[in-house]
Amino acid sequence: MSDAGFSDAARTWNQRFSRDDYIFGEEPNVYLRAQLGRLKPAGRVLCVADGEGRNSVWLARQGFAVDAFDIAERGVAKARQLAARAGVEVAFEVADCDGWRWPRSHYDAVAAIFVQFADPAMRARLFERIVAALRPGGVLVLQGYTPRQLDYRTGGPPIESHLYTAPMLRDALGALEVVELREYEADLAEGTQHFGRSALIGLVGRKP
Ligand SMILES: C[S@@+](CC[C@H](N)C(=O)[O-])C[C@H]1O[C@@H](n2cnc3c(N)ncnc32)[C@H](O)[C@@H]1O
Repeated sequence: MSDAGFSDAARTWNQRFSRDDYIFGEEPNVYLRAQLGRLKPAGRVLCVADGEGRNSVWLARQGFAVDAFDIAERGVAKARQLAARAGVEVAFEVADCDGWRWPRSHYDAVAAIFVQFADPAMRARLFERIVAALRPGGVLVLQGYTPRQLDYRTGGPPIESHLYTAPMLRDALGALEVVELREYEADLAEGTQHFGRSALIGLVGRKP
């Protein structure tokens, strides 16, 4: 597909999620898990483009009050099943990030894990909404791929303008205090879709 499925994201992702297995696995993203100590205990957390729910369900299991949305209803249906199996509640919604209700100054944390479907214009809108949704003191946990990932091709969109560099994130998220911003390489084993040597970037930013 020439645009990597971005022109009809719901259809593309519903197809990807039509398998019975969890294509990014059932365990949370490793970078998100490592940030647990930086999140306000029992706080309100939003998972943006949460897919099949591995991150939202894990956060709910840690005692957070979790809202989550994704454009793909098939992904959200699988996320609901994962939450039911774990015996936790997550407030799931099917929504496009450009159309979601985005409460302001509401969340103690936002998890944006591999949301690189967003082109630069959508990304600017998305980051602005995330920052506005955080309460003062709230943190954003963001994980993505850097352009070096184009050499590995072990996950993520093969389009450079969707990928992140440290200076780009510093600039785009200038409204946040950077707690951590790290480009690194690691071997991922997140289902079948994020698997193998990967060029990653992780950011934790706090709203002043
Ligand atoms: C790489 S997956 C990551 C899923 C999840 N964050 C995770 O880490 O397992 C990207 C997700 O973005 C969702 N998505 C794509 N375009 C979207 C949009 N415009 N609004 C909301 N979600 C979108 C897809 O349905 C998919 O679940």
